[in-house]
Amino acid sequence: MADALPTCLLNGELIATRDARVSPLDRAFLFGDAIYEVVPCYGGRPLRLDTHLDRLANSLEGLGMADPYPRKRWHELFGQLVEANGGGNVGVYLEVTRGAGSGRDFLPPEGLEPTIFGFAWPLTPPAQAQLDNGLTGVVLEDIRWLRCDIKSTALLAAVLLRREAEERGGDEAILVRNGHLTEGSSSAVFLVKKNEIITPPASTERLPSITREIVGDVLDELGLKVTEREVPIAELMEMDEAWISSATREALAITRLGDRPIGTGKPGPVWKRVYEGFQALKKRECGA
Ligand code: PDD
Repeated sequence: MADALPTCLLNGELIATRDARVSPLDRAFLFGDAIYEVVPCYGGRPLRLDTHLDRLANSLEGLGMADPYPRKRWHELFGQLVEANGGGNVGVYLEVTRGAGSGRDFLPPEGLEPTIFGFAWPLTPPAQAQLDNGLTGVVLEDIRWLRCDIKSTALLAAVLLRREAEERGGDEAILVRNGHLTEGSSSAVFLVKKNEIITPPASTERLPSITREIVGDVLDELGLKVTEREVPIAELMEMDEAWISSATREALAITRLGDRPIGTGKPGPVWKRVYEGFQALKKRECGA
């Protein structure tokens, strides 16, 4: 990931990223008591901002917190943050924490002011080699908590899993729990076997991925049906094609699981159509 751009958003103000300060008593620092969003922007325009803000509101509801801003204010602040950093293709991170108390209480005190932080970074397209050859997934036991539908900043398990995947020569950890596929450590997963396109269903074991929803729209446009169902590990190893999707990686083919090739070991024809359809959708929705 590229470095943060110079201007960030802190509690409704645009300030220099290098000068931004929050309290070490913030509950995000002490407990990971916070939620976040990652929104991709193309040509300065966000892709499906309202869907991201809906998910942010759902995550806050999961924490028993109110959304700090009405929708119009989120749009204003989001636009200001992107513009202050020059627009273009940027990723935007938004975080809302439960705020800082006067000490460290597991039980959150009443009346805390949430901390609201946002920053942007240049969104770089995938390397040509990744498009040509695909990525390597490493299948690992899903050690995360049981509310993966909440986009919590408590991401220690995801960090450890991603490190382990990297140490084993992989680009993403493909997670399994109780013998079935959950998702990637920071991505949703699609699979193809014969003529069936499969993605696991929404559940508390997975984040409701917005890119997964967009890929669903692209598949719809292509007239290709998607089956939502659980995928046992044994089946995962027998797929013709696989790809991951996320706000920062769009849709990238997974062509190896550990040292075993998926299908031909090259990005497959369904992924190619999805990738091209995704580029067209970005142009249509963001005009860039
Ligand atoms: N992560 N599943 C998990 C666990 C994720 O962390 C993510 C995204 C996704 C894909 O969701 P979306 O399509 O809405 O980006 C699925 C972001 C990119 C991150 O944490 O940086």
